[in-house]
Amino acid sequence: MSSLKTVQLATFEMSLVDQGQGVPLVLVHGFPLDHRMWQAQIDTFSKTHRVIAPDLRGLGLSKSDDDVVSMEQFADDLAEMLDHLGVVERVVLCGLSMGGYISLQFWKKYSLRLRGIVLCDTRAAADSPEALANRLKMVEHVLAADGTHYVAEAMLPKLFAPGAVVRVPDAVDLMRQTILAASPRAVAAALRGMAQRPDMTAEQKKVELPTQIIVGEHDALTPPDVMRPMAAAIPGARYFEILGSGHMTPLEHPAEFNAVLASFLADLPAC
Ligand code: MLT
Repeated sequence: MSSLKTVQLATFEMSLVDQGQGVPLVLVHGFPLDHRMWQAQIDTFSKTHRVIAPDLRGLGLSKSDDDVVSMEQFADDLAEMLDHLGVVERVVLCGLSMGGYISLQFWKKYSLRLRGIVLCDTRAAADSPEALANRLKMVEHVLAADGTHYVAEAMLPKLFAPGAVVRVPDAVDLMRQTILAASPRAVAAALRGMAQRPDMTAEQKKVELPTQIIVGEHDALTPPDVMRPMAAAIPGARYFEILGSGHMTPLEHPAEFNAVLASFLADLPAC
């Protein structure tokens, strides 16, 4: 477990890990999770980097009572967090799934603060009509009696590759506990934010930063068929598929994930 600190942002208190020294590496978790999904990366990369892993607004220990949080708002929170932490040098931003949607919004607004970007198990496109309908249905359920149980039941089978319950039981259990403990209101707010996120398909080709794409071979939410075209669209992007992994690549296959990330970080040009 890493020790947590808090920073008082304009509208809420953000809880985060800030560990190690060196080039800042900001880890942005997925929906509706918190910084603990990155524990294996925090442990490894804080030996060589300043690893910053926040709990996003409303999630984990970062309590907030918004009705909707846009991906742009989450990105603004990250910029404000960096200001509060006194981080003036350019950072490497690594986001998984919803964290990837946020990373693209951060790039759009704050690209001068970035040194490189790692997009894991995510997509550039907005929700399809079917995905949008499912999201709005999830909002109704999470705010009704089923609460986060509905979210856990709907999401857990899609987060990991088949057999993960036997292979990585602790990781599956941590995700279940994290989802069940999430605030229904914050979960609904993030869902509404994702539902209205902009389509970045046309914009992704303008990413002029070192970029690494990572995806699990068996990712059921953002499969390789979605991420390969993303890698092809972003100039010079590297692509790596983690064999046997589902959506939660950093937790499910931490050694492989860390090897890809380490190689990307090692090859970044000096600022
Ligand atoms: C996530 O893992 O963050 C979610 O699957 C993203 C989404 O629901 O689009």
